[in-house]
Amino acid sequence: MNDFRKDFPILSDEKYIYFDSAATSQHPIQVIDAVSNYYKTINANPLRGLYEWSIKATDAYENAREKVADFIGAEKSSEIIFTRNASESLNLVAYSWGLANVKKGDEIVIAISEHHSNILPWQMVAKKTGATLVYLECDENGVYSEEELKKINEKTKVLAIAQVSNVLGCPKPIKKLSLLAHKYGAVIVVDGAQSAPHMPIDVRDMDADFFAFSGHKMLAPMGIGVLYAKETLLNDMPPFLVGGEMIEYVTREDATYAPLPHKFEAGTVNAGDAVGLAAAIDYIKDVGFDFIKEREETLTSYLLSEMKKIPHLTVYGDDDPSNHCGIITFNLDGCHPHDVSSILDSEHICIRAGHHCAQPLLKHMGVNATCRASLYFYNTKGEAERFIKALKNVRKELGYGS
Ligand code: ALA
Repeated sequence: MNDFRKDFPILSDEKYIYFDSAATSQHPIQVIDAVSNYYKTINANPLRGLYEWSIKATDAYENAREKVADFIGAEKSSEIIFTRNASESLNLVAYSWGLANVKKGDEIVIAISEHHSNILPWQMVAKKTGATLVYLECDENGVYSEEELKKINEKTKVLAIAQVSNVLGCPKPIKKLSLLAHKYGAVIVVDGAQSAPHMPIDVRDMDADFFAFSGHKMLAPMGIGVLYAKETLLNDMPPFLVGGEMIEYVTREDATYAPLPHKFEAGTVNAGDAVGLAAAIDYIKDVGFDFIKEREETLTSYLLSEMKKIPHLTVYGDDDPSNHCGIITFNLDGCHPHDVSSILDSEHICIRAGHHCAQPLLKHMGVNATCRASLYFYNTKGEAERFIKALKNVRKELGYGS
């Protein structure tokens, strides 16, 4: 047990074991209350009204932006664009920066371990511009060799890579990769959806040109995400969506745009959930990344060693628990992951099964689907023990002798 768990109302029913935090995390009462209080006390359309509630809603929204900037080490809060989620952030980069800058003959280098969110937008750019997609192939632990990295060269315009794979859980050396991309004048587009909840982020230290993440995987509500981008890039980019609030002046035929960050936030903004994200950041800071890392590694270490003793079970990725960020992907011989998940669900254990929105990676790994247990700091040793006990019975439930 840990003291933080009592803050999560949904986890008070100990019948359930929630091992699907890489898909979406649970929420502490502090975040739920922050969103609720916003709607109970100051809700009005931010950035528009000249009355007290609207001014307070604007302040709350812009304070959330400052908090995010500080959390990821951005130099200015105007480099923080609020979106719905990491997917929308990455689409913004591709539609706005990509279509304006990528040309026929350019190469877009994508890590094979990417989530579809950092693949499909680049497929779109390649189709529209005539650029070529080049994939970096990883080894079974999700590591990219020096030989593979030679695919990054003077033709490279974009390097698209997640800081942490949502299937293998292994962190990537983003600082080294930025240096390499920048050496050839390319930009690096980092998907931080699976790293931001688990480790301190410093976008300036890693020298990311673009860094995207979702609030809902780090205790905040669904529907609020972030795109960080360097100011110089954002200033030169055309808007992604156009309409209300992102303008400076509109004539019948044309428009000029609002300064950063509002140029990229068309329409009424999601202030309530931005306030929730600010509360989530406060909460995570209270917990501390040292505690998060220690808790995840202790549980992962126990699970990896116990799972390796289970016959017919394959765990994917590194043996080192510090290379998992709480993600353990596995298969049981002869059992479809959907069956494994359903049998575990009968014991109230929640895991994810399927292709995890990473079909090119799964094909590269030689599988169609896997099971994935993913942990966060609120999980306990008792839950891990119950999970192992249940896992040992799955093949028997499906009619196998062992
Ligand atoms: N991207 C989320 C996951 O990996 C949904 O499960």
